[in-house]
Amino acid sequence: MNVRVYKNADAIGAAAAALFAAQVIAKPNSVLGLATGSTPLPTYRRMAALYEEGAVDYSGVTTYNLDEYVGLDHDHDQSYYYFMHDNLFKYINIPEEQIHVLSGMAKDPAEECKAYDAAIDAAGGIDLQILGIGRNGHIAFNEPTTTFPPTTHIVDLTESTIEANKRFFASADDVPRQALTMGIGSIMKAKSIVIIATGADKADAVYAMINGPVDPQCPASVLQLHPNVTVMLDEGAASKL
Ligand code: PGA
Repeated sequence: MNVRVYKNADAIGAAAAALFAAQVIAKPNSVLGLATGSTPLPTYRRMAALYEEGAVDYSGVTTYNLDEYVGLDHDHDQSYYYFMHDNLFKYINIPEEQIHVLSGMAKDPAEECKAYDAAIDAAGGIDLQILGIGRNGHIAFNEPTTTFPPTTHIVDLTESTIEANKRFFASADDVPRQALTMGIGSIMKAKSIVIIATGADKADAVYAMINGPVDPQCPASVLQLHPNVTVMLDEGAASKL
């Protein structure tokens, strides 16, 4: 793992957006794996600025998002589809038909998950994947458990994730209880990965990811086995290393 520590979240955003820019300039039809949450927002702001400045043309890019809540349609303002449009897609020029977010309203979630993995494979796989990390070491909605889930699947959210995400909803009761998420195996297939953590409340999870055993109890620890991972941390997230 290539671990880098930056002064603050904006410096990380600039560095991560530069990785995406370099990827897209080198390969205009890149397949990008995108994430929601607070962590990638500075990266998305900088990606939008690079488009605005004319430095990067995203028109050939295809995207796949990591996950989506079950039961929220794309118009729901807490759906990840909505989040991605609100925070990135409306500012850059990726054609809508090249944007992919799992459907939380799929009648057959298992089929939705299977088709999603097949579509990523058919697109040639993800070139560059961005990830955040949960306080419990989760990546996407792969929560601590006893095995690394290989493929995209439906999950029950843990109490700690519901607690962490309730800030976006009227109350904890309004947070969906299930989600569709790319599996650990789907994520590990990405050719390169950048994982970002900011804030001292992520320091224990970051320590376990980098220095702990490779163990599904800390899903992010699997990234120790990936050949091309860049870890971008601020000083708080790096404080236990
Ligand atoms: P956050 O979420 O970026 O909102 O902290 C990260 C995660 O839980 O994966």
